[in-house]
Amino acid sequence: MHELGTSERPDWSLAVVIGAGGLGTAVARRLGQQHRLLIVDIDKDKADEVARRMRDEGGDAEPVDCDITRPESVLELAEEVKRRGGFAGLAHVAGLSPSAADFESIVRVNLTGAALVTRALLPCAEPGAAAILIASLAAHTVTPSAAVEAVLRDPHDARTATRLKEALGEEERTSAMAYQLSKYGLLSLCRREAWTWGQRGARIVSLSPGLIATPMGAFEFARSPVKHDLYVRTPLARECTMIEIAGVVAFLASDQASFISGTDILVDGGLAGTLRGD
Ligand SMILES: NC(=O)c1ccc[n+]([C@@H]2O[C@H](COP(=O)([O-])OP(=O)(O)OC[C@H]3O[C@@H](n4cnc5c(N)ncnc54)[C@H](O)[C@@H]3O)[C@@H](O)[C@H]2O)c1
Repeated sequence: MHELGTSERPDWSLAVVIGAGGLGTAVARRLGQQHRLLIVDIDKDKADEVARRMRDEGGDAEPVDCDITRPESVLELAEEVKRRGGFAGLAHVAGLSPSAADFESIVRVNLTGAALVTRALLPCAEPGAAAILIASLAAHTVTPSAAVEAVLRDPHDARTATRLKEALGEEERTSAMAYQLSKYGLLSLCRREAWTWGQRGARIVSLSPGLIATPMGAFEFARSPVKHDLYVRTPLARECTMIEIAGVVAFLASDQASFISGTDILVDGGLAGTLRGD
């Protein structure tokens, strides 16, 4: 029942947005035009604040605090989604950038967290639902060894980060490598899981942005000369806006993308092509 004086839309299907940071907020704002929203973050204040902003703008949004690296926390999230009747859209945006954290934390949040979330929420997927995992162009700039590939095939394991370190050489155990491999792992996860999601009539797809103008992106620019080089080599000669990425997420979540699953969508202004030198 719609409550008078509120923007509740019980007739709309649910979209779950994991990560209430810069890009997460832009995605929530866009999906919130046609969905009820569940705004999820480890930081309760952030989730509360973004849900409140969405409601102030006329959206139907509720916050949930969840640590995606803790299986029991993710199962509680799945229970919450089930109580709300399941979901039509899942946008997994939460992630740590290379300058923000150490090797283990990056792998745990970016890869193991995403694997736990997609596995726990699959039983709540409505027919026609879509999960969109935000990966990165960085996934396209690494070629893992067979030993590393083997570890990436089992991303739910709490020891994934440790096992990855063991499979890498000493000098490769950097935060930048953790970021590349965690995002590479997301692309493989989507390819592998497409079958299981398809059995429910649902889709799972990754989206790899190039350089996006976000607070996280600006933080990286200030610390990484490599990032500046990537900027100079982007054919469209600018960063992507969060609004543009949110638009692609909305497309992938919609029926217009009803046959897109188990693949990656690059939104990089042509940068990956330049880097390959084709
Ligand atoms: N900015 C860029 O140029 C760029 C490029 C490619 C990909 N990306 C990706 O886009 C996403 C950036 O999103 P953003 O701008 O919203 O980042 P952000 O740093 O603003 O937000 C990330 C959010 O994730 C949350 N989070 C961290 N650990 C968590 C956990 N364990 N459980 C639940 N939530 C957790 C944080 O609290 C934060 O609110 C990341 O996945 C990043 O890798 C960014």
